[in-house]
Amino acid sequence: MQRILSGIQPTGVPHLGNYLGAVRNWVALQHSHECLFCVVDLHAITADHDRRTLASQTRDLAASYIACGIDPQKQILFHQSAVHAHVRLAWIFNCVARMGWLNRMTQFKDKSGKDRENVSTGLFVYPNLMAADILVYHATRVPVGDDQRQHIELANDIRAKFNHDYETDFFPEIQAMIMGPAARVMSLRDGSKKMSKSDASDQSRINLTDDADTIALKIRRAKTDPEPLPESAEGLENRPEARNLVGIYAALQDIDHAGVLREYGGKGFGTFKEALAALLVEKLSPIAAETRRLLADPGYVDGVLRNGAQRAAALADPIVAEAERLVGFLKV
Ligand code: TYM
Repeated sequence: MQRILSGIQPTGVPHLGNYLGAVRNWVALQHSHECLFCVVDLHAITADHDRRTLASQTRDLAASYIACGIDPQKQILFHQSAVHAHVRLAWIFNCVARMGWLNRMTQFKDKSGKDRENVSTGLFVYPNLMAADILVYHATRVPVGDDQRQHIELANDIRAKFNHDYETDFFPEIQAMIMGPAARVMSLRDGSKKMSKSDASDQSRINLTDDADTIALKIRRAKTDPEPLPESAEGLENRPEARNLVGIYAALQDIDHAGVLREYGGKGFGTFKEALAALLVEKLSPIAAETRRLLADPGYVDGVLRNGAQRAAALADPIVAEAERLVGFLKV
């Protein structure tokens, strides 16, 4: 059975992009794979964060995973800072990855922008830690949104160089699993920008905790063009906002773009947006309610994370110990 690892940063309320690009696929994959689902709190401190809310956001995100359908009995759900093997391997990878490789990361360029000299060095080496998250379990499949493709390629470069330098085949090849018609959900206000927790406008995203009225309002206000929906998927080319909304509908219904357009092609956005809002409310409201229910008992969620960290460490510790042996550290 293939082993899967994936994670989300606890930097705010998870949104529809995190759900459709990642968690929803995890839920489907957990029946046929051995899975580790991580709340990546070490990554969350690479940019400014609030120390008063980091712990509760970590717990909240774990509750969201469960509310979305992750089974914490069958699969391992844990937070990254609780399993020390991640940072031990990340340090080794910091010494394997090359500056030039990291300099090419588009996410680093986007996040650092003009402020390159002032961002943390953690943000720069962020992808090395991500490679360690995966490889410290010898996971080979990583279900993520489209924006993570480059980071997975880098993780493969790191493991190839490690294997080459230390004359081993210890670290296996990793495959990104980028799935479904909503692997890149765009902002509701601008079809050229991806939906993101860090967008200043809350109107740009659907949060998994939004209530029905908020969802309906955000969809009604979502940017569109004046044309009716096209009859076929090719007609969505050069219509990023239309493509985005159709992709969201398709993903939620488990169909493709063409399937949505068979029903809504030729119709105006008024009708389609109403149907989309109703579908979003139908799919997301139970998740919000279940998250609230779970968080009414924080002890339960903390117990899940504690148990998950123990199980994760049991897998990771021997792997990082072997990597350290290959590197040549004295073991006494
Ligand atoms: P983060 O928190 O930015 O995103 C978490 C997951 O959500 C996906 N995602 C999206 N998918 C579709 N449309 C969007 N607009 C959208 N925005 C976010 C991301 O692709 C991701 O799958 N570096 C990772 C976290 C991480 C990780 C890992 C992932 C750390 N270690 C190991 C996999 C394996 C990230 O950016 O998280």
